[in-house]
Amino acid sequence: MKTNSTLNKHHCRIGGMGYYLPEKILTNQDMEKIVDTSDEWIKQRTGIESRHIANANELPSDMALKASLKALEQSQLKPEDLDFILVATLYPDRIMPNTACELQKKLNISNIPALDISAACSGFIYALSIANQYIQTGIYKNILVVGTETLHHVTDYTDRTTCVLFGDGAGAFVVSRNTNPEQGCIYHQTLNAYGEFGEALYISAPGARHSSKKERTTEKKDTCIQMDGQKVFKKAVQILCDTYTKTLEDTGYTSTDIDWLVPHQANERILKKFCKIANFPEEKVIFDIKETGNTSSASIPLSMGRAVEQGKIKRSQNILMIAMGGGMTSGSLLLKY
Ligand code: ACO
Repeated sequence: MKTNSTLNKHHCRIGGMGYYLPEKILTNQDMEKIVDTSDEWIKQRTGIESRHIANANELPSDMALKASLKALEQSQLKPEDLDFILVATLYPDRIMPNTACELQKKLNISNIPALDISAACSGFIYALSIANQYIQTGIYKNILVVGTETLHHVTDYTDRTTCVLFGDGAGAFVVSRNTNPEQGCIYHQTLNAYGEFGEALYISAPGARHSSKKERTTEKKDTCIQMDGQKVFKKAVQILCDTYTKTLEDTGYTSTDIDWLVPHQANERILKKFCKIANFPEEKVIFDIKETGNTSSASIPLSMGRAVEQGKIKRSQNILMIAMGGGMTSGSLLLKY
């Protein structure tokens, strides 16, 4: 083992995972009927073929509940065993109470902390790294970490440059304290943010900045994701490369030591560009955007859960997760699964 974190007394191990994808599917052929686009354009520029869309009654906390119950079952724990709930989402059920409290209520438990994390597509990595701190310090034993998004609510289906990208879904991990790093631990983590890139990707309303405008009219586009696609593309590739390099420098690992890269699924082309620049083998990347689109904070737990289910990722393997998102924010975790 090459990192200091393995000297810790307590280690953070993924005990169980679960994910949920809504039933309704919007294919590229469906998108062709909504905006002036084509299956070929979307596939070639993004790798996306379809995305799942939540129904009108399905809230982020409902999808989080479904994913969480599966993660609890897999970890052989009950909701009462949890010490902390962390929910990453960019579009919560309501502004207040937070979605983590809504999830706590739906899990029928009380009297433990419940916190939402707002870091867009990096939200799940931020949440998992916070959970790691509480486990490593011995404060908590079992933590539920969820990423859940109903992005169709913040998608402008008249804007072809953004509406083809996003989908809905949820993914959850139960992480637990263990003493033997060989049975699972987080070796290394990074968190970062570049506030100066805030205007590359944002949603204006609701929010105080929008509410304080003299002319306080709200058009549909104000409540939806606005994006400078090319700026986001370039910064996302740079973040992936910088984070990967820093992880190798800090830990002494090489690409050979990493079994799988589980990146935020923003766009297949971003990932392929990273592989080329960083000389990282594409065969070791989990590409999972084809059937889900970009699900923001849900994308990493979703793709990790699906890769385990498909038998690609196995226990004891070294996994590097890297995310980048609105803010712009970024984060990574190198772990033994
Ligand atoms: N269908 C057909 N044509 C389209 C579509 C579409 N859905 N969207 C844009 N176009 C057109 C444009 O209008 C433009 O036409 P023009 O040449 O006549 O003006 C042409 O395609 C090229 O547009 P570009 O913006 O240059 O296309 P680009 O190759 O940059 O691809 C894309 C656009 C896919 C958005 C790309 O910039 C990208 O992937 N950016 C990253 C954005 C991203 O991943 N965001 C996710 C959220 S952020 C995150 O998760 C980190």
